[in-house]
Amino acid sequence: MQTFDALVIGAGAAGLMCAISAGRRGRRVAVIEHLDHPGAKILISGGGRCNFTNREAPPDRFLSANAAFCRSALSQFTPQDVIDLVNAHGIAWHEKTLGQLFCDGSARQIVAMLMAECRDAGVEVLLGHRVTDVAAGFTVTTDRGTFTAPSLVLATGGLSIPKMGATGFAIDVARRFGLPIVPTRPALVPLTFQGEALDIMRPLSGLSLEVSASTGRAAFREGMVFTHRGVSGPAVLQVSSYWTPGQEIALDLAPGIDVTAGLLAAKHSRPKAQATTVLGGVLPGRLAEVLGAATRLADMPDRDLARIGAAINAWRLVPSGTEGYAKAEVMAGGVDTRALSQRSLEARAVPGLFVVGEAVDVTGWLGGYNFQWAWSSGWAAGQAV
Ligand code: FDA
Repeated sequence: MQTFDALVIGAGAAGLMCAISAGRRGRRVAVIEHLDHPGAKILISGGGRCNFTNREAPPDRFLSANAAFCRSALSQFTPQDVIDLVNAHGIAWHEKTLGQLFCDGSARQIVAMLMAECRDAGVEVLLGHRVTDVAAGFTVTTDRGTFTAPSLVLATGGLSIPKMGATGFAIDVARRFGLPIVPTRPALVPLTFQGEALDIMRPLSGLSLEVSASTGRAAFREGMVFTHRGVSGPAVLQVSSYWTPGQEIALDLAPGIDVTAGLLAAKHSRPKAQATTVLGGVLPGRLAEVLGAATRLADMPDRDLARIGAAINAWRLVPSGTEGYAKAEVMAGGVDTRALSQRSLEARAVPGLFVVGEAVDVTGWLGGYNFQWAWSSGWAAGQAV
């Protein structure tokens, strides 16, 4: 049996940052990871370039049953702290869009940075250790030894991309210790459709355009791409986090342009032009062909033009579902924040037990916010273990 001050289960973004934060304070920390390499999701993130934070990470960029919960951790380790760390390791980066910061080179640099920091802070990272039991107090039994510490940090992330090693471990252990769980669901995930909507979408598979996608009060103006099962792309992924089954979404395929007014004006100025041709001025050609009509504007009643305009500016439809955890970038829901200290992420009813990162019911927008939550929550817990 090996004894530490803190055991962290999960060598992802949150777990490694927690270990660094605690290790720098002189705590003896071990990170226990079941895969044989650390930071698996960091490596595939941001298309291999890791969108490691966003310039601004205000609390309103995060979904949670308790909207204010993330504020404390985010203020303890900010995007600027992340930038300072990345700069200190000489990692070149650039801002892509909407404040999103990416490595110029590779996400591997971020994992290397974390591992170097772990080494400097005296953290032991134990890879390829399968956890078989967690007992109060805390004792963690693995297939390669037993470890004990007065603090235990659950940092095993969420359920998205199970084939990469994602498990419901943190949720299961938290539940066993009596912590409440906010129901989990795939988020930042492509939406799927059936019937008439899919008949329109499928032939357009691969086509991308800027849209405004909305559901309820959430609206995002970003890119969208048609897929062979529905729609994806940033605008759709963002909306998916707010969507609940059965709820309608609205797509404005020509945001900022009043298509009905444009068609009616063209009917007077270019009566011989076909609706499809006119729409081609504001939509990709393939989409204009599907949604328009190969009919001269002069031969179309105004109400038909208004119908086409409404279909383009406010296409209302109900997704049949999502692509699920296999394609979801994150899991929404998780350990209920009411059971945790917002300053330290420690379970109020189980002293010494901490939950950080995606396993907590805090889900960021697309754009570096989920890593920022992982860094911030990990850091905050590391200051308290
Ligand atoms: P994370 O999943 O990173 O780490 C958990 C660790 O625990 C893993 O190493 C896992 O193997 C380990 N583990 C799981 N079960 C275990 C068990 N039973 N025993 C031991 N170890 C166990 N976010 C962002 O901000 N910018 C981006 O660019 C992207 N890009 C992106 C792309 C793709 C394809 C995905 C799927 C996700 C993203 N994300 C993202 C989201 C981001 O990856 C995610 O929010 C963070 O990795 C969460 O960090 P955690 O440390 O909480 O979990």
